[in-house]
Amino acid sequence: MTNNIESYLVENRFFEPSPSFSKKAYVSSLSQYEELYRRSIEDPETFWAELASELLVWHKKWHTVLEWEEPFAKWFVGGKLNVSENCLDRHLHDGRRNKAALIWEGEPGEKRTITYQQLHREVCKLANVLKRNGAKRGDRIIIYMPMCPEAAIAMLACTRIGAIHSVVFGGFSSEAIKDRIHDCNATIVITADGGYRRGAIVPLKQSVDNALKNNRQVHRVIVFRRANNQIQLEPGRDVWWHEEMEKAAAFCPPESMDAEDPLYILYTSGSTGKPKGVLHTTAGYLLGAAATTKYVFDLRDEDVYWCTADIGWVTGHSYIVYGPLCLGATVVMYEGAPNWPKPDRFWKLIEEHGVTIFYTAPTAIRAFMRWGDKWPNQHNLSSLRLLGSVGEPINPEAWMWYHTVIGNSRCPIVDTWWQTETGAIMLTPLPGATPLKPGTATLPFFGVDAAVVDEQGETVPPNAGGKLVIRKPWPSMVRNIWGDPDRFKKQYWSEIKGNYFTGDGARRDEDGYFWIVGRIDDVLNVAGHRLGTSEIESALVSHPAVAEAAVVGRPDPMKGQAVVAFVTLKEGEPHTKELREALRQHVGEVIGPIAKPDDVRFAEALPKTRSGKIMRRLLKEIAAGGQVTGDTTTLEDLNVLAQLSGNET
Ligand code: WT7
Repeated sequence: MTNNIESYLVENRFFEPSPSFSKKAYVSSLSQYEELYRRSIEDPETFWAELASELLVWHKKWHTVLEWEEPFAKWFVGGKLNVSENCLDRHLHDGRRNKAALIWEGEPGEKRTITYQQLHREVCKLANVLKRNGAKRGDRIIIYMPMCPEAAIAMLACTRIGAIHSVVFGGFSSEAIKDRIHDCNATIVITADGGYRRGAIVPLKQSVDNALKNNRQVHRVIVFRRANNQIQLEPGRDVWWHEEMEKAAAFCPPESMDAEDPLYILYTSGSTGKPKGVLHTTAGYLLGAAATTKYVFDLRDEDVYWCTADIGWVTGHSYIVYGPLCLGATVVMYEGAPNWPKPDRFWKLIEEHGVTIFYTAPTAIRAFMRWGDKWPNQHNLSSLRLLGSVGEPINPEAWMWYHTVIGNSRCPIVDTWWQTETGAIMLTPLPGATPLKPGTATLPFFGVDAAVVDEQGETVPPNAGGKLVIRKPWPSMVRNIWGDPDRFKKQYWSEIKGNYFTGDGARRDEDGYFWIVGRIDDVLNVAGHRLGTSEIESALVSHPAVAEAAVVGRPDPMKGQAVVAFVTLKEGEPHTKELREALRQHVGEVIGPIAKPDDVRFAEALPKTRSGKIMRRLLKEIAAGGQVTGDTTTLEDLNVLAQLSGNET
């Protein structure tokens, strides 16, 4: 018996980068990647210093690249710069002044294109508005906005004056806003009257009002008018964005920030306890975001780049705002749901705007698969040249669909593994260099010293499961948990001595590719075998009848844990006993008898967070036959729970 995670799923499909893609790519062969990677690991400080000079503009150069006192890192010590200047001002003089920075579509269909020059002006004006409303360097500002350009403008305006932003996802409740305001002691909130989602108006301002009941800390709420819904303005506290902007000057000098000054706090939920305020700082974070945007997406000036994440997640921070704008890219932004008014909205957007790079999440890909090929097939997607995936392991089945139906078997897929805490992509193919295998995030990005280790921190042999750790500091790493350094040490730096522990289980195959098998907290222990949930889920999804699957453990007196699978089927598939048995057999064949689910439950939908992660904690409670007791505030659709709890078939 072993404590390590066992890994059984075997995937043999293999895709070499196409010669035409490689020829034009920044990194055009595996050997070139290997050489650069070796240099970046042997001498990370020189490697990152070179990139920092190449990709960022500085007021003052650093004197020390890295000061490392585990677990506290300082990168580019002594350096001074401003993030909004890096994302905007530099492009006023490099030929991109009149290039589209943002191409936006509202859910109801409005379109706006904002050039770098226009974005610069709006950001400067809002920065002046913030100053006039009492914001100072180091203050915390909450941003609770729909997906519209003003969300990015608000973030960049904070960075312009050195205020620390904390974006709260627009789908979160007033409770979530309240907790976050309280935790980081925010004094200003930037919000909108409302935003559109699936044809309805999300009353954002009302949630802010509820969050601010009996609050004396927040002295100003700035309200952008987006949806024209009825709202109350609290006299003395609330002001309209457009009225303030009218009075503001069009230039605001960028504050000169230290490389290690805090840039933003982003709250991320742990499996237990209150959300953690992940703190990112200025230079290292921006460098990580820019370097990965350049190499992972192989970004060109002529690209039209679309990352579908919400700006309230770290993916939106690094890959809608900071990375792409730092590089002067054209970024597409869309406000609403992927299936509004019909399930072809994303494909319509790609066709209309000529999107070349498309970055989305496996949960979305599986939803598209479920809705059927007819929706993408109605559109000309030939502008696409690169696809990306992030957020969870992408099952080989979904990968193949993405590759063939969306990418027309022509576009490389970058499956990018990273976390809120890592700030930037850590494991990823480079599209011109790395041969792809469906279901793996492949190899580490430059400077990322990733390993799969056992309980003692020893590297495990190829194909053995273990814990995914990072053994060296990297520029965009989390610097602290806001206000809680003890939790920071305990959470990330105490599991495996001297290493950052990711919380994920993984294995490395014989080519050194990393396969994520799921969160360690979700690992099952079945009769002494430690099984990753994602492998069993992938096996289930590889059955033609299955759309999506979530696997959890249920306490079992004989085996320790029994495997319970919650499964949603493709349209028209029957919920029969025979199918249930066929699915058990199928998992037995794909992985092995040990992984066969003891229980297969059909569901209409799975409980997910708004970022698309399956809430296994809730499914565990349901599988164990109990009531759901834990926090459900981040659940997207409460009805799903009721339906699952009633499901005894
Ligand atoms: C966790 C981090 C990073 C931005 C979005 C999520 C899982 C993320 C992948 C991937 C397998 C992945 C991991 C990770 N994850 N990307 N490509 N393959 N798993 O950020 O909310 O901080 O979640 O998401 O479990 O630890 P996050």
